[in-house]
Amino acid sequence: MLILGIDTSCDDTSASVVEDGAKIVSNIVSSQTGVHKKYGGVVPELASRKHIEMIWPVVDEALKTARAGFKDLSGIAVCNGPGLIGSLLIGCSFAKAVCYSTGTSLIAVNHLEGHIVSSFLEEPCPDFPFIAMIVSGGHTCLYRVDGFGKYKELGRTRDDAAGEAYDKVSKLLGLGYPGGPLIDKLAQKGNPKAIDFPRAYLPESLDFSFSGLKTAVLNFVRTEAHRLHPPVTGGGSGDVFLQSQLINDIAASFQASVLDVLVRKTVWAMKKERIKRITLSGGVAANSELRKRMEKMAEEIDAEVFIPSAALCTDNAAMIAAAGYHHLQAGNIAGLDLNPVAYLIL
Ligand code: KG4
Ligand code: ZN
Repeated sequence: MLILGIDTSCDDTSASVVEDGAKIVSNIVSSQTGVHKKYGGVVPELASRKHIEMIWPVVDEALKTARAGFKDLSGIAVCNGPGLIGSLLIGCSFAKAVCYSTGTSLIAVNHLEGHIVSSFLEEPCPDFPFIAMIVSGGHTCLYRVDGFGKYKELGRTRDDAAGEAYDKVSKLLGLGYPGGPLIDKLAQKGNPKAIDFPRAYLPESLDFSFSGLKTAVLNFVRTEAHRLHPPVTGGGSGDVFLQSQLINDIAASFQASVLDVLVRKTVWAMKKERIKRITLSGGVAANSELRKRMEKMAEEIDAEVFIPSAALCTDNAAMIAAAGYHHLQAGNIAGLDLNPVAYLIL
């Protein structure tokens, strides 16, 4: 059974054909990084316009690569939220139009469910139940998953998402966008113990908070950095001029603070739910140090950990098609009056 998945929730236009909810036949992602780079973040209006431009070519390429046409599809799964409303509208309108004209079943998929189901696109797949951590540019949350469609939220960020913190810290250091991969790289050359940034553990809670950390990095850069390491003429390009080793140390120390909290909260969630199985997904799950630390932690407490390859951690439509397959099996077909919802809850 072939499902076409479509995701236009943020700044990537993606289409994918997945067979029986597990086998990726094609997965095309057109990134808009070049459009948003100079603004240091996603500009919603520009994102919508680019989606309009790219949706047809991307769907076309996904079908061609899969050697399939609309007539071969059992359904079209589209992400209808959460995300940027203007971006979501493009994918939803496109999917509805194709379903209307071809009579194909329309399936609505929550973006967060897509990230959870991405762990089923590669072997080995997790058994139920498991704890799912989603860490991306828009979300940082923990779920208990008892089956497809059976999700219980255990905690979420109260302010910034982890990826958002990476992007904002990168911007204030003048590194560029998206910040996650850049900080990941610099942190490998820095000392994670160089600066003692705060960790918001929020005792007794599985919620997260990263805005205080972002402010602490900003304060450090504005004050301490100048005193500890006098600026070097011509170095850096952000608010201030910083020596490159100091930037590496800030990146490593900031990252250590984020990862300490993510790893510890995952352990808390496993203890609370008495489940020794976790999945990690979302863009930040592509982080090399987070992957290592989650694996090490799992080994220490004899738990199983499942982390998709980096391309399936960041936004992609294969995860939407895979989740769509399970909705179709359960008879969850959407009406052609489907509307996107920016703050859709899972
Ligand atoms: O899942 P995703 O592609 O889009 C959302 O649904 O938000 O996640 C994008 C986020 C961005 O904030 C980006 O900086 C972050 O994931 N990211 C990373 C890495 N690669 C992407 N963060 C840390 N380390 C990485 N290697
Ligand atoms: Zn995402």
